[in-house]
Amino acid sequence: MVRDLTELSATHPMVDAVIDEIDGRMIRVGDQWLADFASCNYLGFDLDREIIESVPAYLEQWGTHPSWSRLLGSPVLYEQIEERLVELLGCDDALVLPTITHIHMSVIPLLAASGTIFLDARAHKTIYDGCQAARARGGAVRRFRFEDPDHLDELLSAERDPTRLICMDGVNSMTGNPPDLPAFAAVARKHHALLYVDDAHGFGVIGERRDDESSPYGSRGNSIVRYFDESYENVILVGGFSKSYSSLLAFIACPTELKNLLKVAAPPYLFSGPSPVASLATTLAGFDVNERRGDALRATMHAHTARVLDAIDELGVYTPNRSGLPIIELPLADHTRIDAVGRMLFDRGVYVTLAAYPLVPKDEVGFRIQLTAANTEAEVDLLIDTLGELAAAGELRNADAEPVQLEQAA
Ligand SMILES: Cc1ncc(COP(=O)(O)O)c(C=O)c1O
Repeated sequence: MVRDLTELSATHPMVDAVIDEIDGRMIRVGDQWLADFASCNYLGFDLDREIIESVPAYLEQWGTHPSWSRLLGSPVLYEQIEERLVELLGCDDALVLPTITHIHMSVIPLLAASGTIFLDARAHKTIYDGCQAARARGGAVRRFRFEDPDHLDELLSAERDPTRLICMDGVNSMTGNPPDLPAFAAVARKHHALLYVDDAHGFGVIGERRDDESSPYGSRGNSIVRYFDESYENVILVGGFSKSYSSLLAFIACPTELKNLLKVAAPPYLFSGPSPVASLATTLAGFDVNERRGDALRATMHAHTARVLDAIDELGVYTPNRSGLPIIELPLADHTRIDAVGRMLFDRGVYVTLAAYPLVPKDEVGFRIQLTAANTEAEVDLLIDTLGELAAAGELRNADAEPVQLEQAA
């Protein structure tokens, strides 16, 4: 089953690669320098001088690592981060833990208890795993069709169990599109269900819409609920700092009552090691930079993405991206060409995420491009030229071809 991926990992320079050096968004793998379009550091905070220079003062004050679980002792930095989050997101309260994976694995089973979870058929693997953990503890899992709130409504209408949890992605990590959050939230509220949304890729990228916004991504990067001007009623938002904020940390935005429950019942709060002090520092410095320069950085990211999407459109090539957000997936015309196409990209100096089978269904095998504010115009030029070459060689799927039915899990 994992043969394709195993073969690629063993032989392909772009899978399981060792990066020897970086210079801005250029990376060196062995002798080859490549422009990096695989990083999720959307705002370029990993390279931001102001953020880098903020770290030593925190290390002087706190050492490198707290090494208590949060229950045993939380440096006040955590409280500061949670306060900043509440202000940014406009939510009731927030709890931070090291990763989104920790949150899904611990919070989904607690929220589901022995009730029923309605899981997006194409939810991120970490959400799926959290649901499996809930199932192992007596919860039931039903799957609704991707991007289909009517199907969710149907399933919820037929459900007798009073405990209902809906789990799905915010901005999708493959298509780059956000779900119709208002429609899903309305279905959740109609059925007294809780909508649990993982916006790992939206936090820091999309935010509240304003007349003076610097791009259609909105302002402040305060995530999908604010982007759609939705409320947090019956909505739990999960997000992470490990993408836009380039820091090892994640959050759950929730009512204080739930936060207090998690502080005694969520195993990562009780038992897991904490994020390193440098990550707490870069998160706090990231909030400051986001307030002052975030919208300008989002405008740059949007401009890079618009250039690439326009070029793809001109080439007549298919991408599922309808949103204009900086995740662009390009499925191949022939899935067996993944190895050769990946090598060609590598030789031209373009580093992307290869989406091989079984990570994605065979009809979606291809590659994913991510644009960040730290990419340069020259890097984007190189990417566009290389995509032109691939399109001319017939390697990319034609936009006019029959739409491919996305494979749905049962
Ligand atoms: C949608 C989504 N959720 C969760 C994760 C994992 O986040 P973390 O590294 O914080 O566990 C990712 C990472 O790629 C993701 O794309």
